[in-house]
This record gives sequence, structure tokens and C-alpha cells, in this order.
Amino acid sequence: MKVLVTGGAGFIGSHTCVELLNNNYDIVVVDNYSNSKPEVIDKIKKITGKDFKNYEIDICDKEKLDKIFAENKIDAVIHFAGYKAVGESVKKPLMYYRNNIDSTLTLLEVMNKYNCKNLVFSSSATVYGSPNSLPIKEDFPLSTTNPYGTTKLMIEGILKDLYISDKDFNITLLRYFNPIGAHESGLIGENPNDIPNNLMPYIVKVATGEYDHLNIFGNDYDTIDGTGVRDYIHVVDLAIGHIKALEHLNGLRIYNLGTGKGTSVLELVNTFSKVNNVPVKYEITDRRAGDIAACYADVKKAFNEIGFKATKTIEDMCRDAYNFVIQNKKY
Ligand code: UFG
Repeated sequence: MKVLVTGGAGFIGSHTCVELLNNNYDIVVVDNYSNSKPEVIDKIKKITGKDFKNYEIDICDKEKLDKIFAENKIDAVIHFAGYKAVGESVKKPLMYYRNNIDSTLTLLEVMNKYNCKNLVFSSSATVYGSPNSLPIKEDFPLSTTNPYGTTKLMIEGILKDLYISDKDFNITLLRYFNPIGAHESGLIGENPNDIPNNLMPYIVKVATGEYDHLNIFGNDYDTIDGTGVRDYIHVVDLAIGHIKALEHLNGLRIYNLGTGKGTSVLELVNTFSKVNNVPVKYEITDRRAGDIAACYADVKKAFNEIGFKATKTIEDMCRDAYNFVIQNKKY
């Protein structure tokens, strides 16, 4: 089976490419490297000892994408490509809507033309907005708080409509919780180009001395220690979730990918310090606008229907995230 991976050089995309190759799928990668690096392709090859085709294109470019489908018999697509920074999306909404929606529509039109009707889409727990209760189930009401999240929700809507119009499509929407960690080889991991918005890349930069301290956004939430609680999932577990989704593509399906377990900011910081034996200085500051107190997944549906269960611990996530930067001396 030949799988096209859009955004295959990105954080989640690259780890999914590794799992696909390890599971003997043929892959074709497309990426425009707008938020990733071409060298990641060689790292994927090094980890797996396997070769594959990769193209540097923007998938909004219909002619170039069409050519890739003409040259390769694509059976299924995993669609990761897209802008993903919440704060940036608030400042540049048109850029987010244009890029994320346009690229998906272009991809779907080309897939349709080549009769490729199997798709796994990279969605996000952000589509649950502020949940009324926890853990979050897939049938909870959907809403968003920023343009990035709205692009995910809009694309989910487009895919649902597409499925209603053509039941030959098999589409699985995967709603990720908070992916962190890195491949245990230390060759691929999270490597944000700018100042990180997310917690783990920030912790790593404090641990390596690049930043003086972490700002913890509020310690007065109604949580175990007052800091925000999230469902952190190891990126390799998340990648394996995509293999399960591919294996079970059938009709329209929606799954949470998380561990089902909540971890607070302080718990994550303390675990990171402990397993890596490195101090992480922090200060408590005001809450960040738009943040919710707690968010974690109900993981039963993914387990019952596609047999997915995350197995890696918070300790694994902290160790692998740090190992990646140490190995690559990105500080
Ligand atoms: N946090 C800090 N300091 C920081 C960064 C984050 O205290 O410097 C806290 C946040 O307040 C929150 C927790 O750490 O409590 C996690 O924050 P992240 O920014 O790492 O992740 P979010 O849960 O806010 O958002 C992530 C992704 C989104 C996605 C969402 C899905 O960034 O793209 O999960 O629920 F939409």
C-alpha cells in the first residue's frame, strides 16, 4: 500500500513516516519545509534503513500535486500539512484560512480525480473548545477559540460533507491531544523555528540554558496544584495511532488520540527535572488568554474500535524530548 504523507517532514509527520516504513508501507512524502527542514527526510531514512520518494512542493499548487498523483499510484493519504500556531493564527487569520483550507481542498480535488478515496486527517482536541466535562468524548459539542482551531473544525466539516456526498470515501479524523517527546534515536523531534508557544519545547530551552526561566501561566486553576492540566501523548504513540487508523479505514470515523491521563504543568516540569537531572527554573505569571484549566481524552473509542492504546509514560516523553536537543545540540 502506497501512502502519501503531506507535511511528512514535520514533527508528527516525520514520526509517522518512521512507523509507516517500519510497518512496510511504501510512502511518498510532500513538504514545502515552511516549518520543517529537508534534513529530516535523511533522518527518517537513517532510522528505518528504507528509501522513499519525497517532493518539495506546496500542496496548494494543484499542478504539481497532480503530477505526483500521476507519477505514483497513491492508495491513501495522511494529511498533516498546515499552519499550527494558535497565537500566530489570531494575528494572521487570512493566512491561516487561505493556507489550511486551500491546501486541503486542493488535495481533496486531486485525490478525487485519481480516485484515491482513503484519508486520515490530522485534527486536534482544539475542536472541543472549552469542554463542559472531562474526560472528553468524541461526541462532545464542538467549538473553537482561535482561527487555527477554526481551520481544523472547518476541514472536519468539509470532510464530513464530502463523505455524505460520496460514500466510497473512507475518512478518519484524528483529534490529537498534546503531542510531545521525540524518537528515541534522538534523530527526529520537535524543532520550532521561532520562540516556542508550547510548554515542552519551552521547558527544553530553559533546561539547556537558552532561556532563563519558564513562565507558568497561572497557578489558580481548579486543578491538582493550580496549574493547567493536559493530556500529553508521546509523539511515537501518536504516530502508531495513524497506523491503526489506516488499518481500520472504513467510512467516516473520528477518534481522540491521547493517553486519557491529565498532567499539570508543575508535574511535567518536575518530572522533566527529575528524569534528566537538570534544573528548570520557573516563575508563576498571569493566565494565558484562551487557556482552559484542564483537558484530557476519553480514549475508549480508539481502543475499542481501532485497538489504539498509548503506552509511553510522561518520563519517556521528558527523557526523549531532552535527548533530542542534546543529540542535536540545538542550543
Ligand atoms: N504553558 C505554560 N507556559 C508556557 C507554555 C504553556 O505554563 O510557556 C501551559 C499552558 O498554560 C497550558 C499547558 O502549559 O496549561 C500546555 O500548553 P501548550 O501551549 O503546550 O498546549 P495547549 O494545550 O495550550 O495547546 C495545544 C496545541 C494546540 C492544540 C491544543 C489541543 O498547542 O495546537 O493543544 O488541545 F490545539
